[in-house]
Amino acid sequence: MKVQPFFHMETGSLTYVVSDSGYALIVDPVLDYKDGEISYNHVDSVLEYIVQKGLDLRLVLETHIHADHLSASQYVKDITGAKSVISAKIKEVFNQWKAKLNLKSLASFDFFVDSHSRIQFGSKFIEVIETPGHTPACITYKIDDHVFVGDTLFAPDKGTSRADFPGASATELFHSIKKLYQLPRETNVYLCHDYPPLGAAPTSCVKLESQKRRNVMLSQNTSLSEYIFMRDRRDQLLKEPKLLNVAIPFNLTYLLPAKR
Ligand SMILES: [Fe+2]
Repeated sequence: MKVQPFFHMETGSLTYVVSDSGYALIVDPVLDYKDGEISYNHVDSVLEYIVQKGLDLRLVLETHIHADHLSASQYVKDITGAKSVISAKIKEVFNQWKAKLNLKSLASFDFFVDSHSRIQFGSKFIEVIETPGHTPACITYKIDDHVFVGDTLFAPDKGTSRADFPGASATELFHSIKKLYQLPRETNVYLCHDYPPLGAAPTSCVKLESQKRRNVMLSQNTSLSEYIFMRDRRDQLLKEPKLLNVAIPFNLTYLLPAKR
């Protein structure tokens, strides 16, 4: 099995292509978005990689509803026929934002999964670990000793995701991360974001052992009260993501909100 990262510089997002036995899946593909217009250069380069390698794309996995970039899952579905996968709790997230953002109906995802789900992929099975906290519908996909954790964990020097959106919970995020820390220490943790200084390479994969020892916000020794204190203090200083009012409605419905 091979994992190929693709970094989307404009939003600091990481997309992955996982391949095994001639099959491929994509985790968290990203659209380009500027001045109200969508374009497809980044996701097309991901699809081009799949074509060049002669892989059969089967699945597109969403770790959660992103607030800072537009998902390319529907685009990938439309042009390749790959099936989309998202947490069953996405309906909860939709209901939390529905009135506030005047949303009509949830986009048509193919598979809604929870911790009982096992999805066949090539010679492997994808397991689902529910890791709520950043949003109620955050999930981690586990394939052998590789975990795709979405925004749950950032690189060890950056900490964890924020926990101040509607339905978010620092307590739940703490327990989700401690659950991930029970996995074998050699587990490869694939991140959804990194924000390297200009010219530096992003961190896409970190050993679980390194997170447990060095994560600046939540190490294996951090208590719940310590984490909540630190998370709340940090979240009070964070601004709303620049694209939130476009990204949330788009990622829930695959429709751009009306221009004001
Ligand atoms: Fe996120």
